[in-house]
Amino acid sequence: MRAKLVVGNWKMNGNLAQSRELLNAIITGTTELPDIVCAVCAPYPYLPAVQLILKDTHVVWGAQNVSQFDLGAYTGEVAAEMLLDFACRYVIVGHSERRSLFGEDNHTVAEKFKKAQGAGLIPILCVGETLAQREIGETERIIEEQLDAVIKLMSIDSLAQSVIAYEPVWAIGTGRTATPVQAQSVHAFIRNKIAQQNAGVAASVQILYGGSVKSSNASDLFAMSDIDGGLIGGASLIANEFISICSAAQH
Ligand code: PGA
Repeated sequence: MRAKLVVGNWKMNGNLAQSRELLNAIITGTTELPDIVCAVCAPYPYLPAVQLILKDTHVVWGAQNVSQFDLGAYTGEVAAEMLLDFACRYVIVGHSERRSLFGEDNHTVAEKFKKAQGAGLIPILCVGETLAQREIGETERIIEEQLDAVIKLMSIDSLAQSVIAYEPVWAIGTGRTATPVQAQSVHAFIRNKIAQQNAGVAASVQILYGGSVKSSNASDLFAMSDIDGGLIGGASLIANEFISICSAAQH
C-alpha cells in the first residue's frame, strides 16, 4: 500500500510572518492524520524559518527548484547540497512554470533530478501536457518524453527514490481541475509505463496529481487507485483549505 503524500507548493508567495503563521496552522491542523505525509515546498529565503518551525514535527519540507550544477560560479542558483543544510527532504523539479517561463527542457530537468537525488533529496518530478497537446491527442507522448529523459539519464530504478507529479498545464492555477477519471487515466499510463521496465518500482512510486486541487475536489481525486496524493498550489496558501485537503488524503 502506498502512503498518501500531500505537498504544498507555495510558489513565489507570502512573506516571513505569513509563512510562520501558515506553518503553525498546518502543524496544528494535521496532527491527527497519522497515515499521510504532509509537506511544504517554500521559497528559498524562508527555508531556515521553515526548518526551525517544522523540525521535530510531523510536517516535512522542501524547495521548489534546484540547480543542475555543483557548487561554483552560477550566480543566482542554489545547489542541492545547500538545501540539505536546511534539512529539506523534497525538491520539486520540472514544474511547468519552470519549463514554460524559465526555459527548462527535459534534459535540464533530468539533470536537476540527478543532482537532487545524488545529494540525498527526493525529487518531485513534474510532468504534464498543455491544453493544445491534449486536444491533439499528444498527452501520453509528451509525458512519456518527460519521463524518458530522466530514465535515460538515470535509470528506471532511480524513480523508486522519487515522487512523480502529474500536473496538466491547463489545470494549474486555472480553477479547471482534471476530472478524477481523466487524472486516473494518465496516472495509470505512467504506472504502466514504469511497470513495463520494473514492476516493483511501478508498484511503490507515489504519483501525485496537481492542478487546481481544492478541499471540494480532493476526496474524489484521492479515491482513484493510482492517485497517491496531491501537489497543491493556490490552496496550499490557505491554512484551512490545505488542512482539509490533507484530511481528504487520510480518509
Ligand atoms: P494550483 O497549482 O493548485 O494552484 O493549480 C498546482 C501546482 O502548480 O503545483
